[in-house]
Amino acid sequence: MIDSQQNQLEQLVAENTLLKQRVDQMQRLTALGELVSTTTHEFNNVLMTILNYAKMGMRHRDDATRDKALDKIYTAAERANKITNSVLGMARNRSNQFETTDMVKLIEQTMVLLERELSKYRISVELQIEEVPQIQAIGNQLQQVLLNLLINARQAMPDGGQLIVRLYADDQFVNLAVRDFGTGIPQDKLKKIFQPYFSTKDGPDESGKGGTGLGLASCKNIIEAHGGKIRVESMVGKGTCFTLKLPTGQKRPSPLVAANGLSAAAQPMNASAAE
Ligand SMILES: Nc1ncnc2c1ncn2[C@@H]1O[C@H](COP(=O)(O)OP(=O)(O)OP(=O)(O)O)[C@@H](O)[C@H]1O
Ligand SMILES: [Mg+2]
Repeated sequence: MIDSQQNQLEQLVAENTLLKQRVDQMQRLTALGELVSTTTHEFNNVLMTILNYAKMGMRHRDDATRDKALDKIYTAAERANKITNSVLGMARNRSNQFETTDMVKLIEQTMVLLERELSKYRISVELQIEEVPQIQAIGNQLQQVLLNLLINARQAMPDGGQLIVRLYADDQFVNLAVRDFGTGIPQDKLKKIFQPYFSTKDGPDESGKGGTGLGLASCKNIIEAHGGKIRVESMVGKGTCFTLKLPTGQKRPSPLVAANGLSAAAQPMNASAAE
């Protein structure tokens, strides 16, 4: 009897793990599609700038106009370069290996990808970046989490507004907080937001994003796999703040160290959902 219960339990655990992997796979695919559409838009915009100023420089032969055109072309090309670097960074870093990760760089590269989209929706971003230790992380997955949080925040402010991205450390964690001043989440929904397929959105918005309800479920899986926690505070009409708490252990614990209990900070912790 006990044996069969044990078997059932093991089966449930295995199924749960498999389902979590599926959620992550689906979210990754959706996210990849979103990324392609975002960067194509960004790139097109930069190209239009370059083309228009090149035309202007060819039409007007005076030095002042040509200087201005070249200056604009140069700035646009620099931006194109940043965008490709960010995308290549993400593509290169597709491994599922934990690597020493610089969170400041990760934030910068993510913001480059969303800069234009956020300004299109009249959202201004305030970065409050403090010096933090490097952490062991799977960079492209954390970038995915940050993109999900930023897109949710943008969608919670349909009339635009302010978004604060804050990076700071305490003795146990590197904390990354994404705060919006949008609609907020009512108490009864707050309990459900990390459930797969929970969504209050009708479907993708005009930028092709949102509505599957997999975003936060996948964020939670990823942060848990990093031994971290994801916290949310929200007030209807005031806004929402998601905080990622990532353990600062210099190295991931070797099984031996963890078993000896010498590396408590690096032990996996439960993600606390709506608190
Ligand atoms: N910053 C936020 N402000 C207000 N509500 C939010 C915020 N972030 C998430 N939510 C709520 O939580 C729900 C679930 O979010 P989640 O990102 O998992 O799914 P989604 O955005 O609806 O779709 P997708 O999986 O495509 O991102 C959202 O539908 C929304 O109701
Ligand atoms: Mg979302």
